[in-house]
Amino acid sequence: MKKLYAAMMAFLLCIMVAGCGSTPATNAISETETEDGRITIGFSQLGAESDWRSMNTESMKTTFSTARGYNLIIEDGQQKQANQITAIRNFIQQGVDYIVLAPVTENGWETVLSEAQDAGIPVIIVDRMVAVEDDSLFSCWVGSDFELEGKKAAEWLHQYSILNELAPETLHIVNIQGTLGASAQLGRTKALEDAAAEFGWDLLEEAPGDFTQAKGEEVMAELLDKYSQLNVVYCENDNEALGAIEAIEDAGRVVGSDIANGEIMVLSFDGVNRSAVQYAVEGKISCITECNPLHGPRVEAIIEALEAGQTPEKFEYVDEAIYSCFDQITELTIQNQSYPVTILTPDMPEL
Ligand code: AHR
Repeated sequence: MKKLYAAMMAFLLCIMVAGCGSTPATNAISETETEDGRITIGFSQLGAESDWRSMNTESMKTTFSTARGYNLIIEDGQQKQANQITAIRNFIQQGVDYIVLAPVTENGWETVLSEAQDAGIPVIIVDRMVAVEDDSLFSCWVGSDFELEGKKAAEWLHQYSILNELAPETLHIVNIQGTLGASAQLGRTKALEDAAAEFGWDLLEEAPGDFTQAKGEEVMAELLDKYSQLNVVYCENDNEALGAIEAIEDAGRVVGSDIANGEIMVLSFDGVNRSAVQYAVEGKISCITECNPLHGPRVEAIIEALEAGQTPEKFEYVDEAIYSCFDQITELTIQNQSYPVTILTPDMPEL
């Protein structure tokens, strides 16, 4: 009863003060701002599948803390778009100031983003992209160039094969993909497929590993049973790589870059999980292409710009590194742009 009364009073106050019955969500926002002086952000996180994701959530929590003047409401989508859509609808009802969406997959966001737009709530997309025809449905996006990440990994492998005189057709590759339909999967998979077609590599099979260690291990075990000749595994994140390494070692095979002598080369993405980085220092993972999860401060900069009435960049790509302990490849050139490779050594301070 108390809640109902409070809601009725708030509604009446809203009509009296601002004459705003036709745009309730917008006015709920200013109500939130004046109530406690904080900015309220509804963050729809897609899940908790990887170390990258945990660090990404942590970055948002640290940035948008109460001590720093924010109310952050986080909803975990548990890898389901339907849950994320429900979360956004709840944020609209609560009249948050901003919605931040880390979408699980690219398609199917038009309706709910239109609802947020109609409510006058700016939406910031973070990490993966949404595929919508009308990009006025969101304010801006910040994240990684996933296809470029894939191109870096593929170019590293290409350079490695040249330096070690490995004929392209002797590279027997499997791809443990991320969540199908996610930008990180689409971009990284495309880059590998393009490189395989361009260089003539033997791309044996691509199978989804959902960006998790457990699925990475399961899929790798199946692929090892199927293809005795496989000598390169392209894992679309570090957690999958950790699972794949377990499966390879359980099968009595050795991970490493010396594929001419029977080792299985592991390539990976992220550079967040400590064990994966340690494996890269030891050469168990031959190359990690960084995917940077620290988006909290970037989202904050966007919100500050919007609050100041400025128009932030619509798309903001993050700069990312490449890590390997193989010291003969120090630079990669992709579309006339050069990218340094950070050579990992055991005495390096934490990345
Ligand atoms: O969208 C970014 C990807 O999602 C990261 O590479 C992966 O680890 C995460 O789950």
